[in-house]
Amino acid sequence: MTVVRSTLPESAREVVGEALQSTLVDLLGLSLIGKQAHWNIVGPRFRSIHLQLDEVVSTARSFSDTVAERASALGLPPDGRPETVAAAYTLPGSKPGWIRDDEVVRLIVEALEAAIGRLRERIEATEKADPVTQDLLIGITAELEKQRWMFEAENWPRD
Ligand SMILES: [Fe+2]
Repeated sequence: MTVVRSTLPESAREVVGEALQSTLVDLLGLSLIGKQAHWNIVGPRFRSIHLQLDEVVSTARSFSDTVAERASALGLPPDGRPETVAAAYTLPGSKPGWIRDDEVVRLIVEALEAAIGRLRERIEATEKADPVTQDLLIGITAELEKQRWMFEAENWPRD
């Protein structure tokens, strides 16, 4: 039974649903690894990076809501359950225990770069299927690229 009817033609739903769902998983995972690093960072740059990590977390959380609600609006039920995220999350950047500040920066840059690469693929995939979703993914990519830049600038000169 269709609960929420989609404004998209059948042919577009699969690609758009997949793009939104995998973006949702990436963003929820990013918000978790951002908090993990926020809690476990140690080193002389603790304070600034600790605070900067919360910017990534709030960006990821806020966009996860936008992406999930876009899916709902298209009649494609989003799945943000912890077991779904745990099974589907593939981005690098997660590490247990205390992490030195310079390593935190490397890990977060790596995670953001992987997320951005995947988003750019979805931007291409959704171009014809749903330009409105594509526009949303473009906005998310721009913001994650901004965050990536700010973290990369933290580790200059590179060691
Ligand atoms: Fe905190």
